[in-house]
Amino acid sequence: MFTPFTTAILNHHATTPSFDGPVTQTLNCTDFDSAEKEISNWDGYAETPLFDLPGLARNLGIRDLRYKHEGPRFGLGSFKALGGAYAVLRTVQRELSKSIGKLADPADMRCGLYAEQTKTITVISATDGNHGRSVAWGAVQFHTNCRIYIHAEVSEHRADVMRKLGAEVIRVDGDYDATVAQTRADAEKHGWLIVSDTSWPGYTQPPLDVMAGYGVMAREIVQSYATPPTHVFLQGGVGGLAAAVTAVFHQEWGLDAPRVVIVEPELASCLFASAKANRAANVEISEETIMAGLSCGEPSELAWLVLADAAHDFVTIPESIVGPMVRMLVDGACGDAPIEAGESGVAGLCAVVAAAKQPALRRKLRLDANSSIVVIGSEGVTDPNVYAKIIAGEI
Ligand SMILES: Cc1ncc(COP(=O)(O)O)c(C=O)c1O
Repeated sequence: MFTPFTTAILNHHATTPSFDGPVTQTLNCTDFDSAEKEISNWDGYAETPLFDLPGLARNLGIRDLRYKHEGPRFGLGSFKALGGAYAVLRTVQRELSKSIGKLADPADMRCGLYAEQTKTITVISATDGNHGRSVAWGAVQFHTNCRIYIHAEVSEHRADVMRKLGAEVIRVDGDYDATVAQTRADAEKHGWLIVSDTSWPGYTQPPLDVMAGYGVMAREIVQSYATPPTHVFLQGGVGGLAAAVTAVFHQEWGLDAPRVVIVEPELASCLFASAKANRAANVEISEETIMAGLSCGEPSELAWLVLADAAHDFVTIPESIVGPMVRMLVDGACGDAPIEAGESGVAGLCAVVAAAKQPALRRKLRLDANSSIVVIGSEGVTDPNVYAKIIAGEI
C-alpha cells in the first residue's frame, strides 16, 4: 500500500522564516474577525470536521495526524466556498456604496433589499473550478451577474456546476494564467468587477477578502487544539490558502505555531520556484497536473509575501502518489474512518506520507514520534468523473 510513497521523488527546499511583519500585517486580525462574523451567519454555515487519523499516524511513526475535511463546506465541495463568495460580498458592497452613499448591511444585501442596484453589477473571475463555484454562489447570494473564465483543461462537469449556479462560463484557450489575463482585459473593457483569488501589482483588495474568508477554516482548526500541532502541510496553487492558514496560526499561536510545509505538484510549482529565487517567481506549465486546483504558474504576490515571511519548507510531489492517496483515504487505510477526497484535497497528505516514509526527507522536515501534524483536505469529490477514474485505478 505504501510503495508509491516510499519510492516517489519529492523535491525539497528549506528556508528560514524571519517573521518580521507580513505574516501579521498583510492579513490582519481585524479582517479575519470581520470575515468570521459575517460567514458564520450565512445559512448553511457549519464547522467542517477535523478527522483524527490515528491508524495512519501510528503507521507513519508520528504522534498524531488530523485531516480538516472541507468537502461539506456550504455544499460546494471545497474550502473555496469561504473565500470567493465573501469577496463577492465585499466587492459588491463597495460598489454599491457609490450609489447609496454608505456600506450596506450584508444581511440587507442577502435578502435582496438592494437587488435593483446590484443586478446592474457584474462580477467576473478566472478559475480552475472551485474558486469560480464560490464566486458564482456568492453572486446568487448577493444578487449580481457573474461571468466565470475557465481554461481548456477544466472539465465540463466543473463548468456545468457553475452554469447551474447562474454564471455565464467562458472557455479560454491556454492555461489558468491565460484566463486571468482575459478577465483583466474584459473587466477593463466593460467595467466588470474582478473577484480574483490571486493578486497582482495594483490589484489587492478582493484577494485579501478571499484570504480573510479562508481564515474561518483556519480558526476552526485552532479552536480544536489544546496545544498547537508541530507541523502543518499546506497545498499551494497561487498560495492564498497557505497564506491565510499560516497567518491565522501565527496570529493565534505566535512562535509556537507549527512548522509550515508548502506542498505543490511538481508540474506547477511556482511557490517552490519563488522560495528558491527568494522573490515571487513564475513557472511555465508545460503539462497539466491531475491536481486541477493547484495548477498555477504564477503566485499571488500578497500570498507570497506571507509565505516568504513564515513558511519553513517547500516540497513538490509527483502525480504518481495522488491516486493511491485518494484510494487509501476512501478505503479507511490503517483502520481510520473512510474519507472521500478530491485530487487537490489530498496533496498535503501525500507529502506527509511520503516524507514520513523516506528517512532523508523525514529528517529534513524534523518528523519524529512527537510530531503532531495537521493537513487541509481542501476538497471533497468536486469532479465525480475524475474521482471515478481514480477509484477505478485509471489514474
Ligand atoms: C481544492 C483546492 N485546494 C487547494 C487550492 C489552492 O489554493 P490557492 O490557489 O489559494 O493556493 C485550490 C485552488 O483552487 C483548490 O481548489
